Amino acid sequence: MSKVLVSIFGSTGDLAARKILPSLVNLKNNFDLQIIAIGRREMNTSSYIDFIIEKSQGKLKVNDLNGFVKYLNMKFTDENEYEKLYNTHQGYAGVTKRLYYLAVGPDFFEIITKSLSDNQLVEKNNIRDVIAFEKPFGEDLESAKRINNFISRFLTERQIFRIDHYLGKEMIQNIMMLRFANRVIEDSWTKESIKNIKIFVKEKEGILNRSGYYDRAGALRDMMQSHVLQIASLLTMEPPKSYLSDDVKDKKVNALVNLEIDHKSTILAQYEGYLSEKGIPKNSKTETFVFLKGFVKTKKFNGIPIYMLTGKKIDDKSAYIDVEFKETAEQKKWHLPLSKNILRISIAPEDGFYITLNSKVPGLRDQVKSVKLGYKIESDNIGNLSEAYEKLFSDIFGHHRTLFTRWDEIKASWNIIESVLKENHYIYKYDNFDDVISIIKEQTGVDMS
Ligand code: BG6
Repeated sequence: MSKVLVSIFGSTGDLAARKILPSLVNLKNNFDLQIIAIGRREMNTSSYIDFIIEKSQGKLKVNDLNGFVKYLNMKFTDENEYEKLYNTHQGYAGVTKRLYYLAVGPDFFEIITKSLSDNQLVEKNNIRDVIAFEKPFGEDLESAKRINNFISRFLTERQIFRIDHYLGKEMIQNIMMLRFANRVIEDSWTKESIKNIKIFVKEKEGILNRSGYYDRAGALRDMMQSHVLQIASLLTMEPPKSYLSDDVKDKKVNALVNLEIDHKSTILAQYEGYLSEKGIPKNSKTETFVFLKGFVKTKKFNGIPIYMLTGKKIDDKSAYIDVEFKETAEQKKWHLPLSKNILRISIAPEDGFYITLNSKVPGLRDQVKSVKLGYKIESDNIGNLSEAYEKLFSDIFGHHRTLFTRWDEIKASWNIIESVLKENHYIYKYDNFDDVISIIKEQTGVDMS
């Protein structure tokens, strides 16, 4: 079994406490793992463990971390401090994989990568050494390009794992299988049959205590550039040559490159109370909600409107996709209140899918009812599903690359986001989901309820 040493940069943050460490703890039994948690705060291993348990809000326990995690107090922006990390590494014998997880802002990607390389902590071309870059990869196209060019001096593409944790979610992994391994779906997945596609990623919470990052990012950079566009590419890619990582990515990139936004339908909005959040400038124009309408201009899909919506502080936390199919030519002849055929792919909180169909009501009279044909993963009784991050870590350890974004995907999605940012958009205010739904309806005529 390979022996993996994971060094986490940004180990005192929320992400480390709530997602990264709990996922690694869950993988402890499947992999031979050790963790070095790197941080600027003056702490030792034992005070770090207390600190991070408190921050994890019940997700971590002392026994999970004792003997598993070691804290290293180090200023990672200072190249001279990497010797400390090098020396700490010497204390671990027989390591076969060195993973550096950069749970820090993109501004730090370059300095950390260079310092790791200068201190023999990563060796170019050696896939034993890999670096995972948490999203967002850059804060616009230019910075993303700069970062990518820079880190490529020290790493080959095979050593780079760009994280988008949505790709580790069960139903997002399932999109390709659902589309391409079912004739009944694949045959109707064309502009002749699909009326529209709607992607919803709704969040109940506000920005929590991430004002510094969030006010610079906004919903376009924080959610749309990564999670939502990744979902859109999986829904509108052509069948890949094979299901190997690069063949899949070739088709995803092709979908993204062909995705054009209808700018007059864009809606940006900010939740009421955002300007009173701690650390937010009183005149901030940052959007916490985005609605986009796009078309993938390929032969198979051009003409299908793709509606994408994401926002904070809207009624519930849920993510799902609705694919609405066109009426059949026969439908008009029934003179009955037939309902739409909609395929709902539910990503969170439920995982599963169902399709709504019209069915005759049993009995003597001709009546119709809408029935659901579907599948909920929970009904498989497999217990708690693993966290998206668990899947991503286990794929990094096994060097499976499909669920990580390739540079050209990042580039294509930044191009889309920049096309939106270039336009001058009014920033609406909203209190809840109904507010944004009515703004969208009034301004664009689209019903997203
Ligand atoms: C992160 C964003 O990538 O995804 C956060 O930075 C957002 O702002 C989070 O809250 C949502 O992820 P999930 O898995 O909870 O839907």
